[in-house]
Amino acid sequence: MDSIRVTGNGPLKGAIPIAGAKNACLALMPATLLSDEPLTLTNAPRLSDIKTMKTLLESLGAEVSRMADGQVLAMSTHGAINHVADYEIVRKMRASNLVLGPLLAREGRAVVSLPGGCAIGARPMDIHITGLEAMGAVIELKDGYLHAEAPKGGLKGAVINFAFASVGATENLLMAATLAKGTTVINNAAREPEIVDLADCLRKMGAQIEGDGTSSITIQGVDRLGGATHPVVTDRIELGTYMLAPVIAGGEVELLGGRRDLLGAFCDKLEEAGVEISQNEGSLTVRGTGRVKAVDVVTAPFPGFPTDLQAQMMALMCTAEGTAVLEEKIFENRFMHAPELVRMGAAIDVQGGTATVTGVERLKGAPVMATDLRASVSLILAGLAAEGETIVNRVYHLDRGYERLEEKLGAVGANVERVQGS
Ligand code: EPZ
Repeated sequence: MDSIRVTGNGPLKGAIPIAGAKNACLALMPATLLSDEPLTLTNAPRLSDIKTMKTLLESLGAEVSRMADGQVLAMSTHGAINHVADYEIVRKMRASNLVLGPLLAREGRAVVSLPGGCAIGARPMDIHITGLEAMGAVIELKDGYLHAEAPKGGLKGAVINFAFASVGATENLLMAATLAKGTTVINNAAREPEIVDLADCLRKMGAQIEGDGTSSITIQGVDRLGGATHPVVTDRIELGTYMLAPVIAGGEVELLGGRRDLLGAFCDKLEEAGVEISQNEGSLTVRGTGRVKAVDVVTAPFPGFPTDLQAQMMALMCTAEGTAVLEEKIFENRFMHAPELVRMGAAIDVQGGTATVTGVERLKGAPVMATDLRASVSLILAGLAAEGETIVNRVYHLDRGYERLEEKLGAVGANVERVQGS
């Protein structure tokens, strides 16, 4: 297994291009199942998760070609569709469950493995299931698979009230409702930019959707959807991650494609800590101004502080002035980076969903273990300003969500290199 070696190397300077959003692309790709005309995505990120989704869609009968070095995905689903999403693929990537809604809408049936738990939590699908049942689907759990059938005439529009603003459930129901008979309203819907991006793409395909980006989305079902070409929205989590690099290591970095509106609460928190952020035409510039002030963080659905940036923010708080309290309200086990940061000399006390971080002057490099995607990158960030060398093991986690990380950080002066594993 490969690892990444990071050596603190002083202030950073230069520009980092931000890729298309992994979490938008993973919802956009299954939309090809909704139509027999071509769907082409541009600005697609080059990540292992995207390859996994390609494999899954091909197993269902879609054709997916990666072009332009993987930045363009040309897809079409006109052959007969197999409707079974196999456990071997789904267990590797929970987002595989986003084929459930489109298969039910297009084929009237789907057999999708329950994703099973993952490092950060149990990650059930009750909100997806309740919503689809409200649209007339019959869903049974058998041998670890969800067996779903739509009514004879297809899914029916319904008013659906989500118990929690689930991102995946919003995406599944949004796609299912585009071809349902009648009108569907999703209340307490997720408001993430990835939802708006999916709705934009579905509208290009002929879907009738209003209210995406708010807590209540209305979808008027149509008989069929056409093809489209759609650019994947900028990855706000990659953006937020790299914004922290010059804050932790010092210096000034321009994030190409960066948009402040994608990261409201996160930018507010950074400015509260004393960070300078400027929005330029088509990019964001972040300037490190020495040791930041400790700030408290509570993760919440968009537009709150993103759970996917909690680990990275904790890395920054490890050397902040004062004590920061970070509350993780979205997932039940998302502090696995904490013991690894403690190995680097951080002072972190975790009690349930609350981590109290008392800032120290400087961390010390150490060999550390990546446990999940965002925990891995928080260790890389911590290593940028630590004394000595940090080796992050199991970087396959990183490759799921960060394309060419060592190149992008290296281009602004960081000393980051990939060490081929044994
Ligand atoms: C999406 O996961 C993202 N993944 C996650 O990013 C992100 O952390 C999460 O949204 C929250 O923003 C993709 O978009 C591919 P949820 P998703 O449904 O859709 C509970 C990353 O690092 N829940 O909003 O699975 C669930 O257990 C990944 O890129 C139910 O209880 O998130 C969790 O505690 C990690 N029942 C909370 O809601 C359900 O039916 C949020 O889940 C569904 C969810």
